[in-house]
Amino acid sequence: MTLNIGWIGCGRHASQMLMPQLAKNDLHIAAVCDVNEKAAAKAAWHFGADAVYGDFLELINHKGLDAIGMAVGPEVHHAATLAALAKGLPVFIEKPPAKDLANTQAIADAADKAQKSVIIGFQKRYATGNRIARNILKSEAFGPIMGLTGYYMNEPAYFAGKADYSSFYLHHCVHYMDLLPWLAGSPFADLSVRVNVSEPGHILVHLGFECENGSIGSVAMGTMQSRGTPTESMTIMGDHKRLEIQNIIHVKYFRHPPFKADDREATLEPGVDTLCWEPNFTAAANEDHKGYAALIADVAAAFKGEASAAPQIHEGVAAMASLEQMTALVGQEFKKQKK
Ligand SMILES: NC(=O)c1ccc[n+]([C@@H]2O[C@H](COP(=O)([O-])OP(=O)(O)OC[C@H]3O[C@@H](n4cnc5c(N)ncnc54)[C@H](O)[C@@H]3O)[C@@H](O)[C@H]2O)c1
Repeated sequence: MTLNIGWIGCGRHASQMLMPQLAKNDLHIAAVCDVNEKAAAKAAWHFGADAVYGDFLELINHKGLDAIGMAVGPEVHHAATLAALAKGLPVFIEKPPAKDLANTQAIADAADKAQKSVIIGFQKRYATGNRIARNILKSEAFGPIMGLTGYYMNEPAYFAGKADYSSFYLHHCVHYMDLLPWLAGSPFADLSVRVNVSEPGHILVHLGFECENGSIGSVAMGTMQSRGTPTESMTIMGDHKRLEIQNIIHVKYFRHPPFKADDREATLEPGVDTLCWEPNFTAAANEDHKGYAALIADVAAAFKGEASAAPQIHEGVAAMASLEQMTALVGQEFKKQKK
């Protein structure tokens, strides 16, 4: 089944990471929209769209559309999603779904009323290393997830010289507000923060958390690392078990092997020794380990009414609620530090 998609926002992320995934999943980009005429025309040419718009309301009214996709920014995500739902169309939106929790909740309410899917671009759930980890964690063999520690860093480029960290929270931290509870298999129950700023725009936030299932953890998120280096790392602790995910493509699963040095017969036992995985980047296979391809495959399934694990707007509401809680705590820390 081929569906006709109207796409809003033909910027860097959409045209490089998302739109190329649609045709593979029988999603035909029938119409595109961008306030930047050149960006819209280029995307129409690249992806074979017949119609080009500058106004998202006109795109949503384009005849024959089955669904809307967009990657613009929080204000347009909110307004255009409400308009699409009013037309009875399901929607894919990049994160963040809106500028705040209240507007995200408004989308969720409208989606419930229209009984249509609104899917959020939380592709970190789909990154190969994270998926392998989650599947191991779900198995009985791992046992209770006791703790998670990691870092998720960014560059000062977007934020340099600005003491307004709202973009950092909305465009960056929101991913981990979704990923951490997803990996832990349980919502956050409690959050705490510590903050360090070296100069305006260069922030380091340490987020401490406890989940409803008792998992505890801490993650460092900041804007003071180069994006030319790996910026994500996660360690998940169980009892005599540990999973490490480096740069989303190096996975190690440590269990409880005996010491080897004094055992002349020592070998590697599949049941207890360390398992590891990394991809083969020389294979001529169109693999996207970052997760965009797998996410869009699930978006397509949801749009076609097939079984899909794609993150829905209610999960976006949960992430935005945690984000607001975290940013309020950061605000309190700033106040304390000024005293
Ligand atoms: N999930 C991820 O890994 C990931 C990565 C990058 C960006 N994103 C998200 O994607 C979104 C876009 O990011 P980007 O880096 O591509 O930004 P961008 O600025 O390159 O692209 C946004 C595009 O939207 C267009 N636009 C702005 N206002 C518009 C309007 N009213 N109607 C139609 N088009 C409009 C702009 O002209 C631009 O072409 C953001 O929400 C960002 O957080 C997600």
